[in-house]
Amino acid sequence: MEYMEQFEKIIKEQTARVEAMKNDGGFIDYQALDTIKIGIIGGDGIGPAITKHAYKVLASLLEDEVKKGKVEFRIIDGLTIENRSAVQKAIPDDVLEEIKDCHVLLKGPTTTPRAGDKWGNVESANVAMRKALDLFANVRPVSIPEKGIDWTFFRENTECLYALGSQGVNINDDLAIDFRVITTPGTERIARLAFEYARANGKKRVTIVTKANIVKKTDGKFLNICKEVAKDYPEIEVDDWYIDIMTAKLVDEKRRNQFQVLILPNLYGDILTDEAAEFQGGVGTAGSSNIGKKYAMFEAVHGSAPRMVEEGRDKYADPCSVIRAGAMLLSHIGYQEQADKLYKALEECTVTEKKLVITGREDGATGDEFADYILSKITEA
Ligand code: IPM
Ligand code: MG
Repeated sequence: MEYMEQFEKIIKEQTARVEAMKNDGGFIDYQALDTIKIGIIGGDGIGPAITKHAYKVLASLLEDEVKKGKVEFRIIDGLTIENRSAVQKAIPDDVLEEIKDCHVLLKGPTTTPRAGDKWGNVESANVAMRKALDLFANVRPVSIPEKGIDWTFFRENTECLYALGSQGVNINDDLAIDFRVITTPGTERIARLAFEYARANGKKRVTIVTKANIVKKTDGKFLNICKEVAKDYPEIEVDDWYIDIMTAKLVDEKRRNQFQVLILPNLYGDILTDEAAEFQGGVGTAGSSNIGKKYAMFEAVHGSAPRMVEEGRDKYADPCSVIRAGAMLLSHIGYQEQADKLYKALEECTVTEKKLVITGREDGATGDEFADYILSKITEA
């Protein structure tokens, strides 16, 4: 009957989480802080190599702010799979302390252990950080102007199958059960953020994606709450789609351009944003922001590519995704001008001018050369 106790524990924890959400304060105002602390987390595999370049670019753009003491960078080295595995924790305590002492974070990829590998049963550092810092909104933009595609995905980031992904139970040898969590305040806050974004950016339509015809309780709640929130935004058109047909409609040229802002529970958002990023050149090109009320974390969408490190190719790894995440960070903390400069430089270096090309191998530019290329565009501007 161990699993009954486990279930009871889960209910208690989640009820407490709901109460905490109901009582949380508003969004932090970065510009009102004396000093904005930006943590740079290298992570695993190619992470330290590419994150170093993003740091260099950010440090250059914020040089004056650093001199004034308005911005401070903190380098956080300890979030590696070796350290996490040694203490069997998704984020070692001392590293979490360093993280929590920052206001925003730029993070390279971290290795996600899978069942049965040599790292033991450690939860994904990404997922743990999203939970520990309550980063409830995973905002992932995909834009391809020449195809008329301009999507912004608001993926809920702390609930759904992810909330208790490591707390499922094997009832017996034949029966395994996992739990899926959707809450009212958890849905309300992601929906509100999405609608506010739509309103502030002149978007005409918000699309809610679920599988509420089958998953009635949790997706049913998600859909209903999103529709409730929508009532406060009467100027915005709302439609809802099921996730299966949504994956098809993203490739439907006659349909896809109507989508603008999309709201999804965690797992559907995970899947659909990989599909969406593929239109733009793959997950390696996308940046991802994880927004909470108190903290925010910006990261590369791709993985840690351990093979590139094994083959000595990490210096050829493409730093663009994490640099793009850096641009999102700048914009989030109120340095829009610097962010725009960086977006423009990225556009020139990867689309319009393309004087250097990264291939991930010796025949391409190194990440270092590419970062200098981006920096040269910024200073030129
Ligand atoms: C993502 C990734 C993560 C996720 C993994 C690495 C845990 O796929 O950020 O989309 O599933 O959320
Ligand atoms: Mg994913």
